[in-house]
Amino acid sequence: MFFGGDYNPEQWPEEVQEADVALMREAGVTAVTVGVFAWSHLEPVEGRYEFDWLDRVLDRLHAGGVKVVLATPTASPPPWFTAAHPEALPVTADGVRLTHGSRDTYCVSAPAYRDAARNIAGELGRRYARHPALAMWHVHNEYGTDCRCDLTAEAFRGWLRERHGTLDALNEAWTTAFWSQRYTDWAQITPPRATQYLPNPAHVLDFRRFLSDEMLGAYREQRDLLRAGNPDVPITTNFVQGGWVSVDHARWAESVDVVAVDHYPDSAGIGAEEETAFAGDLARGWGGGPWLLMETAPNLIYTRGRMHAKEPGRLTRHSLGYVARGSAGAMYFQWRQPRGGAELFHSALVPHAGPDSPVFREAVRLGRTLAVLAPQLAELAPPAAEVAVTWDAPSWWALQGAGLPSAGIDYLAAVRQAHRALFRSGIMTDFVFPALGSDLSRYRMIVVPHLYLAPPEVAALLRDFVASGGHLVVGHLSGIADACARVGLGGYPAAFRDFLGVRVTEWHPVDPGVAIALDDGTTAFGWSERVETTGATVVARYAEGVLAGEPAVTRNGTAWYVSAGLDDAGWQRLLRSVAAEAGVAPVLEDPPPQLEAVRRGALLFLLNHGAAEAVVPLPEPGTDAITGNPVGRSVIVEAGGFRVIRNGQAAPV
Ligand code: GLA
Repeated sequence: MFFGGDYNPEQWPEEVQEADVALMREAGVTAVTVGVFAWSHLEPVEGRYEFDWLDRVLDRLHAGGVKVVLATPTASPPPWFTAAHPEALPVTADGVRLTHGSRDTYCVSAPAYRDAARNIAGELGRRYARHPALAMWHVHNEYGTDCRCDLTAEAFRGWLRERHGTLDALNEAWTTAFWSQRYTDWAQITPPRATQYLPNPAHVLDFRRFLSDEMLGAYREQRDLLRAGNPDVPITTNFVQGGWVSVDHARWAESVDVVAVDHYPDSAGIGAEEETAFAGDLARGWGGGPWLLMETAPNLIYTRGRMHAKEPGRLTRHSLGYVARGSAGAMYFQWRQPRGGAELFHSALVPHAGPDSPVFREAVRLGRTLAVLAPQLAELAPPAAEVAVTWDAPSWWALQGAGLPSAGIDYLAAVRQAHRALFRSGIMTDFVFPALGSDLSRYRMIVVPHLYLAPPEVAALLRDFVASGGHLVVGHLSGIADACARVGLGGYPAAFRDFLGVRVTEWHPVDPGVAIALDDGTTAFGWSERVETTGATVVARYAEGVLAGEPAVTRNGTAWYVSAGLDDAGWQRLLRSVAAEAGVAPVLEDPPPQLEAVRRGALLFLLNHGAAEAVVPLPEPGTDAITGNPVGRSVIVEAGGFRVIRNGQAAPV
């Protein structure tokens, strides 16, 4: 059980570091992540290493019984590096070369950066690979930077040669016949840069794939050096999710020993709990099992524009939410709130107020709870669901492009909405990755939001799923284009038309805020389509506007098509009814409002996000996993509180 967070002793005098270990023991901290941004302290001048301070930190933590997740510091090269290698500073699409002064100012394709990163990683590996405190290596921090410089251009061209083989093939794949873009020499190709009008979508999409692979190459170089020092220490890097991040985490997952995820919900309301559930389920999908929450904010939620202090109990409920969904613990950014630096007000287990503070007191209680749960969780597999939602990073990237039919298209929002509908219905949900050939056979039901890119193998996977009796709910903007973002012809969604039994001849995007009624009482926003049925039956029709009387939601056997941008209530109603037909039950029948129930094997986590005490009926009696006391056919969960019940159901592995 990992419980702790990012720890930056280099920011503090030794007496504070001594006090830190005592406080960590008080809070039951089991592990801390050290060294994430410590490059200029570890290598103050090129080739001169100063490890004494880190030796003392690791020895002190070891003596205190705290394990170390040791990071390589390569996300923040020191000033000496950029002064010596200005060509390794990143260049934006507008041609602006960024300067030092923040973090992540490097070009991952610059040979000097890669050399320097390998050097420091190699030194750390040689010195600490067998340190008794070392529990895990943490390579870099949140890979995701973007650079459009000439060095990147060279690497991009190499990647394109591998992918396409010949220029003819690339010209075909990128549809360069449009706007006279036909390339006759590889040297003519650059990363997408500021240009006169719309860029070529296939060019942009391939660049994002390239960036993902390029950063993966940089990660693997460090991983292999560290592995050589001690093959028994697991190695990971912390994944971060965001529309700007060109990392295909599902593809990266096989290169890490455990998927580690940073997650910062951005809604102050119940959206934070819905996002926590979403992130936990997605991380478990990436990892194909256990994963680790590497960072979250202990006591703040960063809403856009305001830091919202978490209400009492929320740190605990969020942390247990991740653990219930398969995380091997809960780690935070950060242990101690810094006095200065760019993130001086970011949240911490030990805030500016010191340990005499609500957050530290809650951390102490949480540490005790996790210590009691740890041995029980060790026996259990991560949860496994019967319902899954699809995820595809390249579809997200393609739908961020310019020239699409509506500015309101939002891949992440569509996936979250599908997940939210299941979450609100109390149905456990996995994520699957059709582009990677995920095994769908154990699912009864799959929801497909905005799976825009659907090459033939993806269509075949979903077709087979339906043919073998699976219940499939496909949302609009799915099955539209191939891997090179070329649209399938003959009516949308060309790749899925046969098994959906529909043919879409026109899209009718809808202005923001304009509601469209369907004849089953559902309301839709943002999107509508002219749908012809070619075998499917109509479940609901548009009730107003130019499409009045036309099909809006259809089904063809067990394959549903949702052409309209249903609102949350509409999605929830539809998915509940499909789930019922597919024989999928929620974790609890009729739970009280705002009561989240997650089952991880024999443990039932009950998290009360509401402001009122909840009386929760249980399917069978059991014991309280924290106190060991017996519980009957119902339990009380106090407002903002939690219970973990062991009631003996076998893990649905
Ligand atoms: C990320 C980074 C941390 C820190 C936090 C703050 O997760 O990894 O270094 O910047 O965000 O939100």
